[in-house]
Amino acid sequence: MKIVFATQNPGKIREISEILGKDGFEVVSIGDLDIRACAEENGETFSENAEIKAREIYDKLRSQGSVDDIIVMADDSGFCIDELSGAPGVHSARFMGHDTSYDIKNAAILEKMKDVPEERRGAEFVCSICAILPDGKAVFAEGSLRGRVAHEIRGKEGFGYDPIFYLPQYGKTTAELGNDFKNSVSHRSQALHKMEELIRNMSQEMDRS
Ligand code: IMP
Repeated sequence: MKIVFATQNPGKIREISEILGKDGFEVVSIGDLDIRACAEENGETFSENAEIKAREIYDKLRSQGSVDDIIVMADDSGFCIDELSGAPGVHSARFMGHDTSYDIKNAAILEKMKDVPEERRGAEFVCSICAILPDGKAVFAEGSLRGRVAHEIRGKEGFGYDPIFYLPQYGKTTAELGNDFKNSVSHRSQALHKMEELIRNMSQEMDRS
């Protein structure tokens, strides 16, 4: 069975291959298959957006007649702040404009949160993964990592909102954790492990029937 993941990001493909490869799945990116993704991510939830991305690729592959031994997957993730009613959430990448730097986005969030006390600074990274099975059925797995909005920008690793996402249990932001460690506890890795278990159980059931 081959897994086609709807991403062009080599870092994501490496992380996904490490988790799903141990069950014998071959993981390839849409770039490897020369497929371009252009669907508009206009869902209201992470899982809706993940399904929009996965289904676009599934439909393209099916029109080429080749989905029988393929599972198509896509993920969608974002940063949700309790005090801002879950914003930026599904708009995380677009918040203040796609081309605005994260130094500016993060500084704007810290400014909005400047008078918010510690107990109301809860936030989380959320990731939803959608897998479209060969028969077109969609299955989902979600992971989340809870922490707090930091008081200042800290750390140089990671990307996006990492420098303002503070994990009290480590006394560090996710930009200070180191990429390997962050990837091992991240929302994405939790969702991927859940998806791995779902797919492994499903293929064992298919083998038995
Ligand atoms: P994507 O769905 O993986 O493309 O993520 C959408 C957006 O969510 C990213 O552009 C970031 O703004 C934010 N985001 C998702 N995961 C992370 C993370 O691990 N660290 C920091 N920001 C993240």
